Amino acid sequence: MTLITSPQALECRECHRRYGVEPLSICEECFGPLEPAYDLDAVDGVEFRKHAEAGPTSLWRYEPLLPGGPDVERVDLGAGFTPLRRADNLAEVLGLERLWIKDDSVNPSNSFKDRVVSVATTMARAFGFEAISCASTGNLANATGAHAAKARMPAYVFVPEDLERAKILATEAYGAKVVAVKGNYDDVNRLCSEVADALPWAFVNVNMRPYYAEGSKSLGFETAEQLGWRLPDHCVVPIASGALMTKIHRAFRELAAIGAVEDKPYRVSGAQAEGCAPVAQAFRENATEVRPVKPDTIAKSLAIGNPADGWYAIQTARATGGEIDACTEAEVIEGLRLLAETEGVFTETAGGVTIAVLKRLAERGVIRRDEETVAYVTGNGYKTVEALEGTLEATYHVAPDLDEFLAALGR
Ligand SMILES: Cc1ncc(COP(=O)(O)O)c(C=O)c1O
Ligand SMILES: [Zn+2]
Repeated sequence: MTLITSPQALECRECHRRYGVEPLSICEECFGPLEPAYDLDAVDGVEFRKHAEAGPTSLWRYEPLLPGGPDVERVDLGAGFTPLRRADNLAEVLGLERLWIKDDSVNPSNSFKDRVVSVATTMARAFGFEAISCASTGNLANATGAHAAKARMPAYVFVPEDLERAKILATEAYGAKVVAVKGNYDDVNRLCSEVADALPWAFVNVNMRPYYAEGSKSLGFETAEQLGWRLPDHCVVPIASGALMTKIHRAFRELAAIGAVEDKPYRVSGAQAEGCAPVAQAFRENATEVRPVKPDTIAKSLAIGNPADGWYAIQTARATGGEIDACTEAEVIEGLRLLAETEGVFTETAGGVTIAVLKRLAERGVIRRDEETVAYVTGNGYKTVEALEGTLEATYHVAPDLDEFLAALGR
């Protein structure tokens, strides 16, 4: 038995038809999404744990359950293995006993997207694509630029025109060509699907999507490892396309299946902003499909109106007894500030959404006081500072003069 496996096939999530490990993303039979399939019987949980603990401090410590394999050279900037922070100050405010912040704001390009892009660019280079590309709400743009630079491949990054400046400038600093599209993310995504058909480019979240989404599993693997190879009771995860939430659940299932953790009930809840909450809305209404919306929110990185994995996020919440809730725009800022003020972690608006929904769920009693809870903080506050403009206490403006300073202080 060899521990270093790699997916033997892609498998359709809906009809289970199998395909080779190729640059495909959609089932020809039923148009369902394809996903890498592993032979879980061939992976021993105890060996998996040992291998992880002896591995690099990056997502690649979990290589037996990630795409790639021993013969594929990785594109690796060291994404992953970020801190799981015990958040006692925030827990006290929220009336919870055991709260953790999974702080993915400290990845190489400062969001969890480095994980998914490390996997997607690794596979794209192995498949022999000419260039790396993506349809992005911002964080993916930065991660794609960074990893394409490392892989010495040209990058073309498509974004909605109204993105935060920091995200556009950082992408260009990595040497990527930014294509600002006059439209929202869903328009950008549609254009990218057409470009992917026309040019030999690897779009990390379009034609590379099966491999890309697998990178998100590493957040689930890491949470379990950092808890001492245990599953938590409740997770709160931000939703844009819904892939991250779906894959954290998948990671927990795989760990239990191979015997790396003891199986136990856990709940996975999702977080959206009211200004773009198609998944929360469908969950609330007990709907049988996710109806697309037109996004209008300061949480731009979560502004996907027609989420590709929205339905799977709902299934994840339903299967685990979680919830999907949404917060107001004011709560986004409150959440962001609450985390910064209590835990010293400065997150972007997406993290504000996570904390705001965590607070809502705690206040509603959905998260019970004694549930060990993990909140996923997936992006960095320095990328979206303009969202804070005019919302904070005014700065003291003084001459370099003690008396003037003391007067300003009111002393
Ligand atoms: C900071 C941040 N958090 C969470 C998400 C949601 O990821 P997913 O599209 O997998 O739901 C995104 C997506 O862009 C993001 O940028
Ligand atoms: Zn199918």
